[in-house]
Amino acid sequence: MRILRVFPDLKDERLMALFYKGVKAQWASDSVDWTAPIGLSEEQKTALAHVLTPVYLGEQTAMAGAGTILPQMMFAQETEAQLYLGTMLLDEARHFETLTRLYLTMDRRPYELRDLRTMYRYHHRLLQARERHEWVWGILISDLFAKHFYSTFADQFPDTLFGILSKRILVDEARHQAFSQRYLSQAMGSLDEERRRSLLALARDLLDICYELYRHLAPDTVVLGIDGDRILSNLQRDIGRKADKIGLGENVFDDEEEEEGILQAWREEIERRQASGD
Ligand SMILES: [Fe+2]
Ligand SMILES: [Fe+2]
Repeated sequence: MRILRVFPDLKDERLMALFYKGVKAQWASDSVDWTAPIGLSEEQKTALAHVLTPVYLGEQTAMAGAGTILPQMMFAQETEAQLYLGTMLLDEARHFETLTRLYLTMDRRPYELRDLRTMYRYHHRLLQARERHEWVWGILISDLFAKHFYSTFADQFPDTLFGILSKRILVDEARHQAFSQRYLSQAMGSLDEERRRSLLALARDLLDICYELYRHLAPDTVVLGIDGDRILSNLQRDIGRKADKIGLGENVFDDEEEEEGILQAWREEIERRQASGD
């Protein structure tokens, strides 16, 4: 552990740019039009309450984890990352609170851990990552899962309440992914072989648990008409791509440009809704 510095440099311009973006992009759930149509049958509302549960718990875990890792970054003199994590913590708090409000609006409850034990395994595995690089990698994988989950609803149910919320949350999640990728790329050179292997093992374990989770939730995905196989194969592909990009693998793919197009469309839609007072 290094010595705490009172007056640190803030030199990493890319991380500082992400921090400014994170600060400026804050919103609260009371700016959402909660009278937007839910657009789901009673049976579909129950199915959404079920399939949303792991993501909902993931928002809480991400918030708590950010709080745990923040002091590690402070003592490692990673001040820019420490600042960024402050915005991420508030993002995840907002996602958690917004989804709580969604459950109340739909008059449904999430699963409890005893109803979906696999979900407990996922979070247990994620929380085993106590070292900051491992945690950022685990949270990146969870953010990728969240990305494909929310994108599916944003595409299939664009003008419903959950579709609108999904787009808002996705814009925040894109920043988290950009941060994690940048942070891990910079750190990779300093990680020894054992640490790199533990990152790959974490990815494999989390992906395996995601497949198992899907086996439990498959009947609900049928009710909603969403393609769980596609979500998981996209997740697997993206984990591979991110591993390449941060230097855990060898091939480098560039997928950011294609994502930026749809995110920009959603940002404009959010601004339009805010301007019209919806
Ligand atoms: Fe989130
Ligand atoms: Fe996130």
